[in-house]
Amino acid sequence: MNKIGKYNNVNKPNWKRGIGDRTIRFKCSMQNVIMDVLRGKGWIEAKEDETDFDFFWADRNWMKEYFDQCYMDEHVRINHFRNHYELTRKNLMVKNLKRYRKQLDREVGKLEAAKCDFFPTTFELPSEYHMFVDEFKRCPGSIWIMKPVAKSQGKGIFLFRKLKDITDWKKSDVYRIRDDKTDDKEPPETYIVSRYIERPYLIGGRKFDIRIYVLVTSYIPLKAWLYRSGFARFSNTRFSLESIDDTYVHLTNVAVQKTAPDYDPEKGCKWSMQQLRQYLTARYGIETVEKTFQLMNDIFIYSLQSVKKVMINDKHCFELYGYDVLLDVDLKPWLIEINASPSLTASNQEDYELKYGLLEDVICIVDQENKLTGKEKRIGGFDLMWNEGPVLADDGGADCINPPTYSTNTFLGCHNDRKTQLQQLKKQLAAAKKH
Ligand SMILES: Nc1ncnc2c1ncn2[C@@H]1O[C@H](COP(=O)(O)OP(=O)(O)O)[C@@H](O)[C@H]1O
Ligand SMILES: [Mg+2]
Repeated sequence: MNKIGKYNNVNKPNWKRGIGDRTIRFKCSMQNVIMDVLRGKGWIEAKEDETDFDFFWADRNWMKEYFDQCYMDEHVRINHFRNHYELTRKNLMVKNLKRYRKQLDREVGKLEAAKCDFFPTTFELPSEYHMFVDEFKRCPGSIWIMKPVAKSQGKGIFLFRKLKDITDWKKSDVYRIRDDKTDDKEPPETYIVSRYIERPYLIGGRKFDIRIYVLVTSYIPLKAWLYRSGFARFSNTRFSLESIDDTYVHLTNVAVQKTAPDYDPEKGCKWSMQQLRQYLTARYGIETVEKTFQLMNDIFIYSLQSVKKVMINDKHCFELYGYDVLLDVDLKPWLIEINASPSLTASNQEDYELKYGLLEDVICIVDQENKLTGKEKRIGGFDLMWNEGPVLADDGGADCINPPTYSTNTFLGCHNDRKTQLQQLKKQLAAAKKH
């Protein structure tokens, strides 16, 4: 077997393969953990220029360039929705959320609309510049964060306090002014400007944000799965508002933190979701922590609902989203962004195992091998959280350490005994087949 990752020593469940008699043919645009997982399945790897494939883990560029020209058989599966950017471009996510909040206000009421108040006040630049200035003037002295909409890994992001910083930046080369009629300058890059969360929840004096994985297998009906594991990403440097230019303090991206002079790759800057949940529970008690996790569930569900009608619901597509969530001092979770291509590169052995298990479970749910009944509520580390309506837990998660007492079928940060679960599922499916 061809190894990509140096941490590839994970045991794999040995399930039969094939669509009918045929062995599944896969393609993969990425040379990281996903490639290891696909090769580990014993499927056949199609060459780069081959169009005959059953499963494709594609990059977003491929979707843009080729998806519309591709004819795909009924059973073929691909890992993005055609217009995934409706949720995963920073400006479009906010646009869709604002529209959905208005719609809820109109159709259901203020209380329901207020459940969407989980993203910081945000404007798109340059199109909403004047609205931003009005808002800026309403709250003098507060800090704002500026981000290019189509970049990632903390690139191009900066914080500011004074309007003058923006006017200077607008004139600079980074940002070319569209209404300069005298030349052929390119249009300016689109940015968003968001209110900076000035009082993040700190552990050991350090800021962190949380990466959570949500899998959508269909938008109509909306079917979404929540992965139990994830991680908190810490900044290496103690938090302070003194130095708002210091990206090591304010941006928690691993890509940023690993360039810090005192970064230790083995130690890393991550905590598992289980560690975080246990830490918070020990400090604040189950009830408070459950409230926070329930609010996170709202973030996943309301954000997905906000694009349900605009998303092209192609039956070939599924999507593994990486949510970035930040907790503030009151333990309120804030949605920072949603990624269509969450990093599948491992930073150490533990990270490799998390991502390997996650991706194996994604592939299990996508079910190319036609093994499932379609009625499963749990597959590996994933729990079905929404199936055109909230999914309720059968047993209140009795098999979990620290089970939540609320009844929705979500177990973020609870024990992830995915291998045992997969073995049980396999047995159940085999027994059901006999009858
Ligand atoms: N409104 C905000 N308040 C506080 N911190 C933020 C805010 N927006 C982003 N950050 C920090 O900046 C990091 C990068 O922002 P993000 O929107 O995720 O962009 P990128 O696509 O570059 O990852 C986040 O992980 C978080 O640590
Ligand atoms: Mg991010």
